[in-house]
Amino acid sequence: MRGAWQLPAATDTMQLGALLAHACPWSAREPRLLFLSGELGAGKTTLAAGLLEALGVAEAVRSPSYTLIETYPLSVGLAVHVDLYRLQGPEELEPLALRDYFAAHTLLLVEWPERAAAILPRPDLAVHLQASTAEPGRICRIEAHSAAGEAWLALVEQQSASQTLIELGTVSH
Ligand SMILES: Nc1ncnc2c1ncn2[C@@H]1O[C@H](COP(=O)(O)OP(=O)(O)OP(=O)(O)O)[C@@H](O)[C@H]1O
Ligand SMILES: [Mg+2]
Repeated sequence: MRGAWQLPAATDTMQLGALLAHACPWSAREPRLLFLSGELGAGKTTLAAGLLEALGVAEAVRSPSYTLIETYPLSVGLAVHVDLYRLQGPEELEPLALRDYFAAHTLLLVEWPERAAAILPRPDLAVHLQASTAEPGRICRIEAHSAAGEAWLALVEQQSASQTLIELGTVSH
């Protein structure tokens, strides 16, 4: 399944992030993995911030550009925000010990996942943001890549229908 949304303003990006938070199928057996891709400034951190805020993160969410990883212990589980933009090479991946976070009750949000393509498993959801040429704002496309991702996206789709978010359509495949 895949869906697309038009996001005229940053607040809409936050709102879509919040929907993803509310629909997230946390698991007691495995981690949930969400990729955030798109050009510099596409809105990846904005979406992550909306998602983390909706999960109850009280502090302002910033891109962990220097530390590369920020963890947020929450009542529902552990949220992990990863930004691989500054990753210089595969040798820098090792000390990050990303694999340690592939655990139950954990949600990983990964910006610039293509920089660690060799070690990252298939995500539940792949979120892609891009500037919209015809309209102000952004276009967001989300693809499900697992059974959990399918359920997650279906719920987001269902909930976005009752909100002000502009959905461009979903396709099941
Ligand atoms: N839907 C939107 N419409 C207009 N502006 C937006 C939208 N979503 C986010 N923005 C704005 O785009 C700017 C860049 O956002 P953000 O930092 O989230 O991008 P990013 O993809 O994380 O960038 P980077 O690749 O540098 O990490 C911010 O000023 C944010 O408010
Ligand atoms: Mg960012």
